[in-house]
Amino acid sequence: MIRAAGVHRAFGGVAVLRGVDLAVSAGELVTLSGPSGSGKTALLSLLCGFDFPDRGSVSPGMASWSECAVLPQSLGLATELTLQENVALPLRLAGRAVSGVSKLLAELGIGELGARYPAQVSFGQQQRAALARAVVAQPAALLADEPTAHLDAESAVAAVGVLRRVADEGAAVLIATHHDAVHAVADRVLVLADGQVQG
Ligand SMILES: Nc1ncnc2c1ncn2[C@@H]1O[C@H](COP(=O)(O)OP(=O)(O)OP(=O)(O)O)[C@@H](O)[C@H]1O
Ligand SMILES: [Mg+2]
Repeated sequence: MIRAAGVHRAFGGVAVLRGVDLAVSAGELVTLSGPSGSGKTALLSLLCGFDFPDRGSVSPGMASWSECAVLPQSLGLATELTLQENVALPLRLAGRAVSGVSKLLAELGIGELGARYPAQVSFGQQQRAALARAVVAQPAALLADEPTAHLDAESAVAAVGVLRRVADEGAAVLIATHHDAVHAVADRVLVLADGQVQG
């Protein structure tokens, strides 16, 4: 469901990814660690079609949100929409009924904040809204970049619970993270170093 084969990507002549191979199956939750600057975000950008490899192939690549949803490191919430509207957006764009939004927000501890705009909540609260937006349409594949980076321990437990459930319901889930709480629920832990997935 999520796959990279022989992926190379350089920026300004600097080779960041140098032959990355990985595969994540449906129902599997895999974490990706590696030093800051090792290319985790660059790799996720290729896998979801935000960017293109110089060499090699990726899957899903460009796809609908239902096929591949993303929680970017930079969150990317629409500032002119409330949290509730942000989370509902993938369903609206797909022409699907809007349901499950309030339940997800409550599960992530931001049930009271749905009517607020991103600028009116904390960064950690924005991050949880971006997670809700990523999972609301039950995507076949989910790419999450440091999804607990701005969360306290309790909120991180809720976020990790949601991510694990999405995988248990059949999604292929790949998460870039430095947090042990996320690695703890992973089926496999991968390390990106020296431009390649190690081991
Ligand atoms: N669009 C780009 N243009 C130029 N350089 C880039 C671009 N994207 C990434 N890089 C470079 O590629 C390298 C890897 O960056 P990336 O953001 O993927 O690291 P990371 O592993 O996600 O780090 P962190 O843990 O800090 O999030 C860095 O040296 C970065 O400067
Ligand atoms: Mg990154």
